[in-house]
Amino acid sequence: MCGIVGYVGHRPALDVVIGGLRRMEYRGYDSAGVAVLDGSGALNVERKAGRLANLETQLDTVGRDAFYGTAGMGHTRWATHGAPIDRNSHPHRDASQRVAVVHNGIIENFAALRAELEADNVEMASDTDSETAAHLISRAYTEGDTKGDFPASVAAVCRRLEGAFTLVVTIADQPDTIVAARRSSPLVVGVGEGEHFVASDVAAFIEHTREAVELGQDQLVVITREGYEVTDFHGDAAQAKPFTVDWDLSAAEKGGHEYFMLKEIDEQPEALANTLRGHFDGGRIILDEQRISDQDLRDVDKVFVVACGSAYHSGLVAKYAIEHWCRLPVEVELASEFRYRDPVLDRATLVVAVSQSGETADTLEAVRHAREQKARVLAVCNTNGAQIPRESDAVLYTHAGPEIGVASTKAFLAQIAANYLVGLALAQARGTKYPDEVAREFAELEAMPAAVQKVLSTVDQVRDLGRRIADSKAVLFLGRHVGFPVALEGALKLKELAYMHAEGFAAGELKHGPIALIEEGLPVVVVMPSPKGRAVLHSKLVSNISEIQARGARTIVIAEEGDETVRPFADELIEIPAVPTLLQPLVSTVPLQVLAAEIARTRGYDVDKPRNLAKSVTVE
Ligand code: F6R
Repeated sequence: MCGIVGYVGHRPALDVVIGGLRRMEYRGYDSAGVAVLDGSGALNVERKAGRLANLETQLDTVGRDAFYGTAGMGHTRWATHGAPIDRNSHPHRDASQRVAVVHNGIIENFAALRAELEADNVEMASDTDSETAAHLISRAYTEGDTKGDFPASVAAVCRRLEGAFTLVVTIADQPDTIVAARRSSPLVVGVGEGEHFVASDVAAFIEHTREAVELGQDQLVVITREGYEVTDFHGDAAQAKPFTVDWDLSAAEKGGHEYFMLKEIDEQPEALANTLRGHFDGGRIILDEQRISDQDLRDVDKVFVVACGSAYHSGLVAKYAIEHWCRLPVEVELASEFRYRDPVLDRATLVVAVSQSGETADTLEAVRHAREQKARVLAVCNTNGAQIPRESDAVLYTHAGPEIGVASTKAFLAQIAANYLVGLALAQARGTKYPDEVAREFAELEAMPAAVQKVLSTVDQVRDLGRRIADSKAVLFLGRHVGFPVALEGALKLKELAYMHAEGFAAGELKHGPIALIEEGLPVVVVMPSPKGRAVLHSKLVSNISEIQARGARTIVIAEEGDETVRPFADELIEIPAVPTLLQPLVSTVPLQVLAAEIARTRGYDVDKPRNLAKSVTVE
C-alpha cells in the first residue's frame, strides 16, 4: 500500500525512480510523483493523479530535461487521507518548497499536528496526513536543537509521529543525501557500487543490485553515494540486517506474458516446489525460524489461523488438514475480527498468521493481540524479514517469489502448501503421526507441482469458457469439505478481477437459502470432491448439481478425471488430476484463477491492477 523509492548515485535519478515505481505500482495506483535534486540546490517535483503512465505523460509534456540530477525519490499511492487528486499526490513539500517527503502508512495523530501547524500560520496545500511531516521536518531543520542537521530533524519528527509510516525525505540544500525512516511499514536499503537506494520493496532496485539491508522497527537510514548509516530515532547507531535477494529481475518482469497475473499462474508449480524444498530433512519437517521449543509445540492445545482475503481461504483449507492430522481444534478467523471479539488465548494456543506480504495491518494487529495474551505465533509469509514474521515466535516462508499481480495466485497456492507443512510439523511434535506417515504425506505434497503443471496444460478450455460467460450477471461457486474454501476463493477472484457479483457457498447450504438465486442460464461452478476419496460427499454434491440444473443453472463442474457419474449433470466439465483429497485445492483452484482472469480480460479490465485495490493492505 503505497510504494516509495529513493536514490543517490551516479545514474539519472529520474530513470531509476520511475523504473522503481513501475515495479512497485502493484502497491497502489491512485497517483504517482517524483522529486529530483539537481545538485545546484533545486528540488524539482512532479506529481499526477492516476496511474504512473499519467505521470510519465506529464513529464514528457513539461520536459524530462528539467529533472536532471542523480538523487531523487518517488511515490505511488493508494489513497487513505485525501482523495486521489493531483494536490494530494506525493511528494509533499513544506511552504519554502525546500523539503520534500514521500510517505507510506498512516500518521494517526495528524489532526493534532495539523492543528498545531495551522495555529503557527502554516498553510496546508493538501488534505493528507503526510504533508504534516514535510512542514514539521522543515521547522526542525530551520530552528531549535536540530537546526541544520538533516537526519536529526527527521528523527525528531519521527519521535512525534504516531501510527505506521515509512518516510523518505529530501532537502534541497543537501542534494547528496536522502534520509528515510520506518515504523511498521516496510523499508529496505539497496547497496550498490557508488549508489544506494531505499524502497518499500526490493523490486524497486533489483535491476541495479541484489544486496540489501532490512531496516528494523523505529530505525532511520541516511544514504549517500558512498554508503549508508542506520540509527534509531534518537540518533544512536543501530543494527540492521543485510541480505542478498534470492531472485532476479526476470522474476519481477512479465517475461512475455500480457499480465503479471498470467505469468504468476504459470509459475505455480515452481512456487510450490520452492516452498516445499528444504522443509523435510533428516526425516523431519523443518520450520525456517523457530524461537519456541519443541515442547511448546507439543503443548499446543488449540490453533487459530488468522489472515485476510485469499490468505484466509488458505487458512480454511488448513483447518481440514490440521484437525485431521493433529487432532487439535482449529479456528480460522478473519484477522480484522479476531482481536475485537476477545478470543480465548493462552500459552497453549498457537496462532498461525498467514500473510503473503507480511505487512497486512489487520493480520499484524492480530499477531500483536495474540502475543499480548501469551499465545505463540507462527507466521506463514512470502516476504523475508517483513513485520509479521519479525514479531512471531516461528516462521515458515513460502517461496513463491515476488507476486506483482494484485490478486493473489501463486502466493495463495504456496500458502496452502506451507499450511500443510505447519500441520505436519504439529503432528510430528505431538506424535499424532508416525515419522513414516509424515514422510508419506510430504512425498504426496512433493508430487503436487507436477499435478498443477498438468492442470496448466489444459486450461485453454477454461479460457474459452471464460470468454463465453463473460457477459453473465453473476456467477455462483459451490463446494464441500476442502472444496468450500476453493469456492470462496473462486468467487473472490472473480469479484476483484471482473467486478462481477460472485459468491461462494458450502454446497450443503444451498437449500437453506442461496438456491433462490438460481435462475435460467446462471453459471454455477461446482468443485467436486474425489468419487473415491470422499464418496459420500461426492454423491451428495451430485444431488446438489442436479437440483440446480433442474432449476435452469448452467453447471460448470470441476471434477477428477475419469469421474463419469458427474458428466450427465455438467454443462461444462473441467477435469483435474486425481490427487489426495486434502490436497485437492492445489489443483482445483487453478482453473478458477484462469476463469476469473479470462473473464476480466474479455470485459476489458486490467488484470494486474483491479480498481480500488492494492497489494499489501497496511491500513486497518
Ligand atoms: C486477493 C488478495 C487479498 C490478500 C489479502 C491478504 O486476491 O490478494 O485478499 O490475500 O489482502 O494479503 P496478505 O497475504 O499480504 O496478508
